[in-house]
This record gives sequence, structure tokens and C-alpha cells, in this order.
Amino acid sequence: MSRAKEAAGRAAAEHIRDGMTVGLGTGSTVRFTLERLAERIRVERLVVRGVPTSLDTEHKARALGIPLALLEEVETIDLTIDGADEIDARFDMIKGGGGALLREKVVAALTKRELIVVDRSKMVERLGVRFPLPVEVVPFARAAVARRIGALGAAWTVRMRDGNEVARTDNGNEILDCRFPGGIADAAALERALDEIPGVVESGLFIGLAHTLVVADDDGRVEQRPRPAR
Ligand code: A5P
Repeated sequence: MSRAKEAAGRAAAEHIRDGMTVGLGTGSTVRFTLERLAERIRVERLVVRGVPTSLDTEHKARALGIPLALLEEVETIDLTIDGADEIDARFDMIKGGGGALLREKVVAALTKRELIVVDRSKMVERLGVRFPLPVEVVPFARAAVARRIGALGAAWTVRMRDGNEVARTDNGNEILDCRFPGGIADAAALERALDEIPGVVESGLFIGLAHTLVVADDDGRVEQRPRPAR
């Protein structure tokens, strides 16, 4: 698995060109993209500015010497490289396993080309069968939001950190991990329904945001393909 993550993550970094503003995603696959980008900055003297999607990525990028920009300094982002927890044949995704869904979605929305890096285990026929859907909620509204999510047919759990403490996102919010029996039948409709619940900050459904998929197998083989026409 980690050979596949490394192969996909490193291959994606080859898409970065001199002068680009680059969205830097979050997770264990993107970590390899950051390492390869740092190599390219050193060796090829590539000039880029990175926009991190989480505090974790910000720290990693800084430690690797990748120049960073604040979101307010940036109007559009040329290319973002990010991971996913699940991706289907239409390139719709569940993200937020690492809790970074909100910043990832803000960055994706500013991005001209969103490139997703995954190992093949992340490719699914239907979203939400294996991986629960993360929903970021304002702590004050957690119970009210949870009831509404229950009414949509999901079983939810509050994401915990180290077993007994409620996890907080980089934005100070909480996450409900939501399981829909049989998976998510209509991801776009569910995203809209979740958006309508007061107290929901963002859901981990990413619909129509990915443009290119870089997927690798355990033997290190990499496949790259554009999103199919919708
Ligand atoms: C972060 O919140 C997620 O959206 C990540 O992009 C995702 O969890 C990445 O998974 P890997 O760690 O397997 O790359």
C-alpha cells in the first residue's frame, strides 16, 4: 500500500511547472508529493508557491523548504494535488479521513486543475459503503445536526482523538462520521441536503471537483487519467 502511495504521490509532483501556485493537499499519499516537490525545488530550482490545506501539511511543507502563500494572497490556484478516502468512476469523492475536508474544499474550489492521488484500494463503485462520510459541524450545534443526519438515514459517531477526547479540526470544529446503510445512492443530493442543515460547516463529499486521477498499484505501477465526461 505505501509503495502505491509513494508511486502515486511522486508521479503527481511531475505535473507541477515553474511559476505555479500549487494547492498542497493533506494525508499520507500527498506526503510523497511534498517530498518530491521539495527535491524538484532544490535540483531544478523550480519557483512555486504552495497553499496548504491543513496545519499538518503547512508544517511538513515548511520543514521541507517549500515556499508557502497565504490564501488571502491567492486568487486562483493553478494545480492542487490532494488525496481521497474514496473515489468513484465519476471522480466524485469522500474526503476528510484526516479531518482536513473544509480547507481542502475551499482550496479545491479555487483550483483550475485538481489532481487526486490514491492507491487503488480507494477506488469504489459506490461511495460510503466502506468509508464513513465525515461531516464537519460547529460544536454548539452537534446534537441538533446529529438528529437531522439521523433523519437522513445515517448512523453517526463523533470523531474522537486518543479514545476519550472529542477531536477538533484545524478550524476548531467537530466531525461526525456518518454511515449510510448500503452506501450513498445520490452523492450530489446528499451534499445539498447536508448543506441545508444549520450547524453543518462542510461535508466530505467532493462532487465534480476532481479533474485528473493518479492511481498506483502495490507494484508501483502508475495510471493517470482525466475525469470522464459527465
Ligand atoms: C484529509 O482530510 C483527507 O481528505 C485526505 O485527503 C485523505 O484522507 C488522504 O488519505 P491518505 O492518507 O490515504 O492519502
